[in-house]
Amino acid sequence: MLQIIVVGGGGLIGPRHAQSVISNPHTNLLALIDPSPTASTTAATLKTLSFPSLSALLSSPSTPHPDAAIVCTPNHTHVPIAEDLLRHNIHVLLEKPISDNIPSALSLLKTSTSPAHAHLKLLIGHHRRFNPYIQKTKQILSSGSLGPLIAVNGLWTIQKPPSYFAPPTDWRRDAASGGVLSINLIHDIDLLHYLLGPITRVFAEKTPPQRVQTDPAHTAEEGAAITLRFASGVVGTFLVCDATPSPHNFEAGTGENPMIPQVEGKDADFYRIFGARASLSVPDLRRWGYDGVAEGEKGWGAVLGSEDLGDVGTDKPFDLQLRHFVEAVQGREELNCDAVEGLRALVVVQAVKTALEEGRVVDVGDVGDVGGLLGERV
Ligand SMILES: *[C@@H]1O[C@H](CO)[C@@H](O)[C@H](O)[C@H]1NC(C)=O
Repeated sequence: MLQIIVVGGGGLIGPRHAQSVISNPHTNLLALIDPSPTASTTAATLKTLSFPSLSALLSSPSTPHPDAAIVCTPNHTHVPIAEDLLRHNIHVLLEKPISDNIPSALSLLKTSTSPAHAHLKLLIGHHRRFNPYIQKTKQILSSGSLGPLIAVNGLWTIQKPPSYFAPPTDWRRDAASGGVLSINLIHDIDLLHYLLGPITRVFAEKTPPQRVQTDPAHTAEEGAAITLRFASGVVGTFLVCDATPSPHNFEAGTGENPMIPQVEGKDADFYRIFGARASLSVPDLRRWGYDGVAEGEKGWGAVLGSEDLGDVGTDKPFDLQLRHFVEAVQGREELNCDAVEGLRALVVVQAVKTALEEGRVVDVGDVGDVGGLLGERV
């Protein structure tokens, strides 16, 4: 039984992680760590302990030492909290993003791989990797069923309501703190890394801003058309925009976010992946190819066949992620998303921002002096 604490357990996401810990037969929810006054009520509901800080738990003689922690505190606290946990010999599942800035993400990467902590696992919680549609897509790509991969086309197009930008979350209107690239695109970038490997070069053009016309304070970017080059040679285009009514986005396609209704049927595809033998759309998982056609006849004159591979499990991503974390801690699975992957997503988003601001092609390895680090694993 792994003894697990949820740090930031009194927030919105904390209790969802806590539920996963409670329902997993190999984990025990030891305590919530959260200074907020409401955290003890949440802890009582979950029938667990609550401490205002890690040191308060560690100095409580009757409480066992935690084996692992799930960290879901505000983004700017991710790195110091994760480093503190590692120093106390505690494995960490850290909510994405790894950090709100590249230098501190680098610091965490160094801490987590230093000899003193190398025996500990640090999993970055890009939990969409565990979405059943994405797991199935990964399986199809790995099986070679599309042949050698050529290109990808992705969409995250949606309309956010005015309330999303109203106080107290009006920081989202501000170019420095908000914007669709840091808040949303990072999730798709991570999924593309998971499915297709590292992105090495980007270019981007801004979408025409809509909200500034009624709100001059709205300086955050609303979207971009992006070109991508992957280390594998695969190329891609990605369109992101949060100011258009559209079903083509991860949330509408998968129904993963309870706040955003799923669009039923096959209309809400958000990725199309193209290989030399077949292509695939996601999340409907329809595969297109000339499989029954004689080799010499394959091509546009033949009938293009399609096949539905859309048979996915119903397990919740948080539950699957925790199951994986336990396996990784016990040495039975390789980490699905380590600190390098967390840093990689952050760096590619920064590369897209630089491309927008400077109107030029940006090599990911040139951003924030991380080239060598990210390059080692390309
Ligand atoms: C933290 O980062 C995530 C992106 O993973 C974003 O969706 C969220 O809005 C950020 N929160 C704050 C307060 O910046």
